[in-house]
Amino acid sequence: MADVRARLGTDLPDLLRRLGFRDDDAADAVDAAAEVLDSPADLARVQTYADRLSTAIGDLRLEQAEDPWPEDEPAVAHGRDLGAGVLAMLALVATAEDVHDYHRSRAIDDDISWRSLSDLGQQVWVHRLTYDSFGLHTQGWLRIAWSGDLYWLGRLQFNLQLNDGEWVLSTHIPRTGPLTPESVQESFRAAVAFFGRHFAEFPVRRFWCSSWLLDPQLTEVLAADSNMVRFQRLWQLDPEEMEGDGDALFFTFARRGDVDLDSLPQDTTLQRAIVKRLKSGGHWYARRGSYPLPDQSA
Ligand SMILES: CC(C)(COP(=O)(O)OP(=O)(O)OC[C@H]1O[C@@H](n2cnc3c(N)ncnc32)[C@H](O)[C@@H]1OP(=O)(O)O)[C@@H](O)C(=O)NCCC(=O)NCCS
Repeated sequence: MADVRARLGTDLPDLLRRLGFRDDDAADAVDAAAEVLDSPADLARVQTYADRLSTAIGDLRLEQAEDPWPEDEPAVAHGRDLGAGVLAMLALVATAEDVHDYHRSRAIDDDISWRSLSDLGQQVWVHRLTYDSFGLHTQGWLRIAWSGDLYWLGRLQFNLQLNDGEWVLSTHIPRTGPLTPESVQESFRAAVAFFGRHFAEFPVRRFWCSSWLLDPQLTEVLAADSNMVRFQRLWQLDPEEMEGDGDALFFTFARRGDVDLDSLPQDTTLQRAIVKRLKSGGHWYARRGSYPLPDQSA
């Protein structure tokens, strides 16, 4: 189990850099760690969260794993205002080396290992973008990476997921710039090679995606040759529609919760389309889709 005091006390800036923290987030994380190391109660909580995270490493279905932190952890007042989700964040930082060791046990390169774990820094950055403050609100999502199941391969991220008895490569699109068709195909190829080599005992036949990006209504409002439309056309959709207004607003405008539609920027085709439909009483939907592994679609 990770000794949180040692992990947060030694070479923290270097670890945060490997975990993808931007400079301002890293500076705030170093300050928060110092506060926690100075507070036995907070340190004990981070240690408990870290112990639970460690137990779940390698449990790809998170079946055995207990929730590492209370569901309402981000709302907890810490006495000092460390920021939402910061104790969970520090537990993730403190256990990153253990997940890295798990990657090593599967002969995964250091570069891919740390790139995959750098989703933590990405999520801390997205939190700042969304709430204009240091913190974390997507610690639930990060549990997939911390179980040893999320890999960032080129443009996309993937994890093995069991759907109705079949393992699929669940596909994720981080907010890191354009989603060019070439970068998507390159990532798909990398994923086939990677999971075939490092997770050979999980045979997969298809990629799978659940996203607001798969709402066919987007094809009605974006250019036919846009990256988003070309991405969506790859997927064979399940019929079920899931509520997607919140995701459309979050992933387009980095806003959560009640959003005043009149306050949103209207600079891009997508921004205008998202707001127009909502103002007219319409909705956006998340959809699920499949895409066969390239070597089986030939
Ligand atoms: C998915 C994503 C990478 C697509 O970006 P992209 O490759 O630049 O998209 P396109 O080139 O197809 O863009 C089409 C139009 O929508 C706009 N657009 C695309 N994504 C946008 C975004 N997140 N915010 C605002 N406008 C966006 C583009 O500027 C373009 O408008 P324009 O014609 O007026 O210039 C981008 O939307 C993104 O980073 N989203 C956040 C991550 C996400 O949604 N992940 C899925 C979670 S389930």
